[in-house]
Amino acid sequence: MIPQRTATSSTLTLHVNDTAHAVTVDHRATLLDVLREHLDLTGSKKGCDHGQCGACTVLLEGRRANSCLLLAVAHDGAHVTTVEGLGDEERPHPLQQAFHERDAFQCGYCTPGQIVSGVGMLCEAAEGHPSHATPAEALGHSTGAPARLNRDEIRERMSGNICRCGAYPHIVEALEDVAEDGSQAQRAQRAPRGSEVPA
Ligand code: FES
Ligand code: FES
Repeated sequence: MIPQRTATSSTLTLHVNDTAHAVTVDHRATLLDVLREHLDLTGSKKGCDHGQCGACTVLLEGRRANSCLLLAVAHDGAHVTTVEGLGDEERPHPLQQAFHERDAFQCGYCTPGQIVSGVGMLCEAAEGHPSHATPAEALGHSTGAPARLNRDEIRERMSGNICRCGAYPHIVEALEDVAEDGSQAQRAQRAPRGSEVPA
């Protein structure tokens, strides 16, 4: 759509969890505030509001992003996935199920960001992207083979998500469960609900 503009606001389209939304936003509004306050998607949390904690993590065009650092007006037409788009109580995402089974949270404040970040991280690993913890011998060969996710890799790749409760050991176990199960890992990479290919 053609953005409608005033001096301080614009109307734009955001595709969130496969639904298109036309929203008129103040140019200073972050994507996080638009998700929470305009679209009532309160799963993404405002922890630090400074890009330090990961509680606001969403997938932007399939990649992890801190929505508190993004101006919504700069993302007209973007595709965003929030934790609400991954699954629900009846049909949880494999990683949501693993968090439940592994008791990978306490207060739960960081949990939506951890789960969305985990889904993005599993995709990045499946696509062969290295991390700072990837062994030197695995770097530099461009086979596109999936990265092997041991605990060091998972910790490094999830280091942008802070848990004040210290649920890290169980978060790592939940991610290991999904990473180790090939079919689960495949499902973990799926697009948000609505655009997935049936198994
Ligand atoms: S609220 Fe965005 S990184 Fe903390
Ligand atoms: S479970 Fe409380 S901040 Fe992570």
